[in-house]
Amino acid sequence: MTKLKNDTLLRALLRQPTEYTPVWLMRQAGRYLAEYNQTRARAGSFLALCKNPDFATEVTMQPLARFPLDAAILFSDILTIPDAMGLGLYFSEGEGPKFERPLREEWEIRSLTVPDPAIHLRYVMDAVSQIRKTLDNRIPLIGFSGSPFTLACYMVEGCGGTDFRQIKTMLYQRPDLLHHILNINAQAVTAYLNAQIESGAQAVMIFDTWGGALSHAAYQEFSLRYMSQILAGIKREQGGVRIPSIVFTKGGGLWLESIADSGCDAVGLDWTVDIGEARRRIGHKVALQGNLDPAVLFSTPEIITAEVEKILAAYGDGPGHVFNLGHGISQFTPPESALTLVEAVHSVSQKYHRH
Ligand code: CP3
Repeated sequence: MTKLKNDTLLRALLRQPTEYTPVWLMRQAGRYLAEYNQTRARAGSFLALCKNPDFATEVTMQPLARFPLDAAILFSDILTIPDAMGLGLYFSEGEGPKFERPLREEWEIRSLTVPDPAIHLRYVMDAVSQIRKTLDNRIPLIGFSGSPFTLACYMVEGCGGTDFRQIKTMLYQRPDLLHHILNINAQAVTAYLNAQIESGAQAVMIFDTWGGALSHAAYQEFSLRYMSQILAGIKREQGGVRIPSIVFTKGGGLWLESIADSGCDAVGLDWTVDIGEARRRIGHKVALQGNLDPAVLFSTPEIITAEVEKILAAYGDGPGHVFNLGHGISQFTPPESALTLVEAVHSVSQKYHRH
């Protein structure tokens, strides 16, 4: 086992002391970077980027060459799992993801099977090992997956940006069918994350982008419960080293206590909650990740720095905070704003880690 040159992120996720607050950005590799757009053009499409480990490695490394980030995140997508299940993922130009065969009929749902990551998602595992090799232990690599419920939203609706009419109709009218999908998804995500860990992912994150669209009771039953099942089934250690886990439910601010009890090491926060208040509620149990509004990056360096200061001050002294945005970085973000943000977090946060 070679030691990481910078393991600040891993220590912060485990609430161990650090010299400063580590920072990475959701969607740090993406369309706001000209070099990403160039690589995507060479690959031919977004999916071709994801499915070719050389391209996936190249774009994973791009933001690291520009900004002193404390983590890399695997370049891939949450929808690789339903794609591997045979639903036919595609992206039409300028629109979000779509499925050729969304789940509508009971027989389609009953015939869903758990993909074997070593076979059907081999390209992801190859990307993870290649990225680890290229990183050469500079900083840790985060692996990820979608939550069972968020994946089910795309699988049932067939696309993003909907009013959740299909999936919520199923939830209330045929909860047994939705539970069947969620069960398969939870098994698929567990196997997928374990395969990523075995291939070299040093922390894992579950993206529950749509859990916040559920009612209080439905969130516990249809989203959180399955994330807890995954957290109970994933490897906690690889080669004697702890693998921290992060759960991020967008819009989950009202449920922080129950999210913190799910078995994760860290909870991701969107920008609607005060991080100081979140720390008082759950900071004795888990680390917190977040929570700058991505729209702050459209303003000036002075404003960006001031907003960073506000979050660092609200969190306060001591370890357990990983700085991030409250959701993915916008494709319209000037890259210089991301640099201002990362540098501000590193310099301003030091005074909170002197005790
Ligand atoms: O953070 C990173 O840099 C890693 C890469 C990553 C992508 N998608 C690349 C991507 C991660 C972690 C994801 C997760 C993901 N994918 C989520 C959960 C996080 C979130 O944003 O809520 C979701 C819901 C998806 C599904 C998905 N993929 C959507 C809705 C879209 C279209 C949205 C958009 O911005 O156009 C994608 C495409 C996608 N995934 C892009 C990238 C860089 C843009 C595709 C392109 O290059 O055209």
